[in-house]
Amino acid sequence: MKKVMLVFGTRPEAIKMCPVVLELKTRKGISPVVCVTGQHRSMLDSVLDAFHVVPDYDLSIMKENQTLFDITSSILSAIRPVLEGEKPDLVLVHGDTTTSFAAALACFYLQIPVGHVEAGLRTYDITAPYPEEFNRQAVGIISRYNFAPTAAAAEHLIREGKDPGSIYVTGNTVIDAMRYTVREDYTHPELEWAGNHRLIFITAHRRENLGMPMHHMFRAIRRVLDRHPECRAVYPIHMNPLVREAADEELRGCENLHMIEPLSMIDCHNFEARCYLCLTDSGGIQEECPTFGRPVLVMRNTTERPEGVESGVLRLVGTEEETIFRNFMELLEDQAAYDAMAHACSPFGDGRASRRIADLLETGKCEPWTAG
Ligand code: UD1
Ligand code: UDP
Repeated sequence: MKKVMLVFGTRPEAIKMCPVVLELKTRKGISPVVCVTGQHRSMLDSVLDAFHVVPDYDLSIMKENQTLFDITSSILSAIRPVLEGEKPDLVLVHGDTTTSFAAALACFYLQIPVGHVEAGLRTYDITAPYPEEFNRQAVGIISRYNFAPTAAAAEHLIREGKDPGSIYVTGNTVIDAMRYTVREDYTHPELEWAGNHRLIFITAHRRENLGMPMHHMFRAIRRVLDRHPECRAVYPIHMNPLVREAADEELRGCENLHMIEPLSMIDCHNFEARCYLCLTDSGGIQEECPTFGRPVLVMRNTTERPEGVESGVLRLVGTEEETIFRNFMELLEDQAAYDAMAHACSPFGDGRASRRIADLLETGKCEPWTAG
């Protein structure tokens, strides 16, 4: 029996790793062990509850306003005895968070093989997203199995000199997660408030956007919403206190915008499915919205998800106030521009990525995913 430990710690990793946990549990040849770092607390727990995943280990490292030093050093110290005690045959980490980097580094120190889920995403600018671009490149150096969500991600790894035999194109497991969440009969009080008005869905949290960029983003949003009182905006606000301060300063008192606590994953996916358009700096939301054909204005200067931009559903608008204002106004006022972006497509997966990862781990083979 192969012992596979899955290590994750934040909301998006949990959303993308729980489908893998559930799939591995069905495989006879594999014994999955779940270790959460607790880099996030309530935002992580809400996802674990939704998937009914109970961790075998919880390192509980989160503290308010944690720094990258805090996260990295706490995980390195706390995970060592877990890895030494369990002696897994393989550890799976996900994507680009500091949890993923620190867990992979710990495995490297103990010479435990690492599998990287969502491998190969790149901007090739280690300042954006920060520190995620560094984290995923560093995990890429360590990892023995590379589960690339798309052909383009696999191509990056090949160009970087990774062994092609270690790379598997699987699709992104976030699309698997959406099989559990989106419902026809879904309702929510905020959707009732929005009624038949156009619903604008907003999220923001990136570290490199904290400070002035985030203020500019919020000012642009407020100016558009003031000019379009018929729109209703819902902004589930990240728990980072620095995000909350900026949002409170710029958006307080905006009558057609509701700032609410983070939505559960199920709520979030159902809001995405029903919104008119989305403004975000999130990675996961860039992958989810194309499924619903909801245009996304990506408030970042660069994206590691170019497939969504190429499909036409995502548009990069940076963090300058005037550019966001102009693009947001255009999508509200120019129907042709809106229609050109609003079409459903699946550039990120077919909902079977976890199955492919489990197949590979169980049998050494999996059918690659091809888009289209
Ligand atoms: C982290 C990841 C980022 C990912 C994001 C998803 C790193 C460096 N960053 O960023 O890649 O996009 O998660 O959301 O790994 N907090 C709570 N409760 C929670 C979660 C967060 O109070 O459940 C607050 C804490 O004060 C914490 C702060 O949010 O200090 C920031 O959390 P942190 O994990 O450091 O960074 P994120 O910006 O969430
Ligand atoms: N999400 C959620 N509730 C919210 C906002 C986002 O469940 O209030 C989900 C969203 O559906 C996506 C994931 O969280 O799957 C994205 O996480 P986040 O934006 O925090 O991180 P990123 O993807 O940028 O790393």
